Amino acid sequence: MVSERSGAEVLVASNRGPVSYSLGEDGALTAKRGGGGLVSGLSAIGPDTDAVWVCAALGEGDREAVRRTGGLLSAEDTGGQRVRMLDIPAEVYADAYNGIANSVLWFVHHMLYQTPIEPAFDSDFRAQWASYVDYNAAFADALAEQAAPGAAVLVQDYHLALVPGLLRDRRPDLRIGHFSHTPWAPAEYFAMLPDDIQRQLAAGILGADHANFLTERWARAFIGCCGTALGADCEVRHPGDEAPYLLTALAGGKPHKTSIGVYGLGADAEFLRERAHRPDVEERLSALRGQIGGVERRTIVRVDRTELSKNIVRGLLAFRRLLTDRPEWRERVVHIAFAYPSRQDLAVYRDYTDQVGRLAEEINDEFGTADWQPVVLHVKDDFARSLAAYRLADVALVNPIRDGMNLVAKEIPVVSDEGCVLVLSREAGAHAELGEDALSVNPYDVNATAEALHTALSMDGEERAERTRRLAAAATALPPAKWFLDQLRALQA
Ligand code: G6P
Repeated sequence: MVSERSGAEVLVASNRGPVSYSLGEDGALTAKRGGGGLVSGLSAIGPDTDAVWVCAALGEGDREAVRRTGGLLSAEDTGGQRVRMLDIPAEVYADAYNGIANSVLWFVHHMLYQTPIEPAFDSDFRAQWASYVDYNAAFADALAEQAAPGAAVLVQDYHLALVPGLLRDRRPDLRIGHFSHTPWAPAEYFAMLPDDIQRQLAAGILGADHANFLTERWARAFIGCCGTALGADCEVRHPGDEAPYLLTALAGGKPHKTSIGVYGLGADAEFLRERAHRPDVEERLSALRGQIGGVERRTIVRVDRTELSKNIVRGLLAFRRLLTDRPEWRERVVHIAFAYPSRQDLAVYRDYTDQVGRLAEEINDEFGTADWQPVVLHVKDDFARSLAAYRLADVALVNPIRDGMNLVAKEIPVVSDEGCVLVLSREAGAHAELGEDALSVNPYDVNATAEALHTALSMDGEERAERTRRLAAAATALPPAKWFLDQLRALQA
């Protein structure tokens, strides 16, 4: 049933919303707005469309904001979108987000399990799974309540894999899309999940009319998993098109069809180029130049969340190997590594963060001299400083073990001042679009990565600039607003 409060024609649902609140000691709430593809996308539909973004309250500040507002935040409150924030009980949220979404689903899709010791799909897992179902149901309830008849609902990511199916049961009139921002696991790897869980995840997403992915490779992996888990039937409808496949699976005894699409989110050139030349970025640029020292020194830049899949440790090991095997680079290159905090509730992320810090220190102790610090590591998130590093990078190191897309690989060539060589993992989604003009690496192979860094540092200026121009063109082919609007139009067609 559609309640009186309903009415939104376009709805977005994601775990992390476009705004988060921190609670000061004086009781004041401070809002922090996020960026990214969805934020630009949703603002691009214009103020005439009634849109709502449904998200979870992540911390105490958000929960307090929900208590004070009842959970509905106006566009003025959030400085952008109308938001419905869900205050899901803290234990349910922790089990769903830390327990299932980040420790199981993220690990499966990024192939990060140490299979001999993990995973233990035991009673604790089952209890956490029950919370994941509740958390998904809370989103489905809120969306069902907020949506106007026939509205378009765009559900995001692995946190909300069950929402499309649950929402279809509640509101069969809606047009439902799901987008995976991560890779999808190959069928043989996905098969490690208990069989009923594989079925629930596949059927959950197939509750959507459209299930979209960042690359063809992840879309095909998903299709493979649906075949194994559900016996879903795949028809190649429009090869090379943005929605090439049609999957048919039984839902409640009846065949339900889901269009499988590929939308490779690109960088927002206009925003980045303007933002990267504001005074705060210039300030950080001079500060970084000070840390680098000598004017002739080259830079290898990386910017990541401190995330296991980003492979920061092997990146540092490759830099150490470069300095060991190619002593001619000593004193002549600085590795600028920004590793921003992420998912610190999980012990394995805290340990990884410590390991990154220790290794950077070891390299500096081993090779550093009175006026040369080989690794400049920053761990405090600062967007303006990231842009400054993008501008001065001679080499960008993007070497994830596996990555849905990797926007840093796309952003650096766009804002680079003098051209930058991209050393890019062949396991990053971005490789499908940028591989030709990047130096491709196997992310596990530290020696080969060190060699690629050497080749990158040695490349002549002209070739570097030409490659950067082509990289920037490929990286901006599908800017965020178009990425979002294309999906919305396809869903509403
Ligand atoms: C990835 C996921 C997003 C997630 C982001 C940050 O990009 O696809 O859904 O929001 O990481 O992770 P966090 O756990 O901090 O939200």
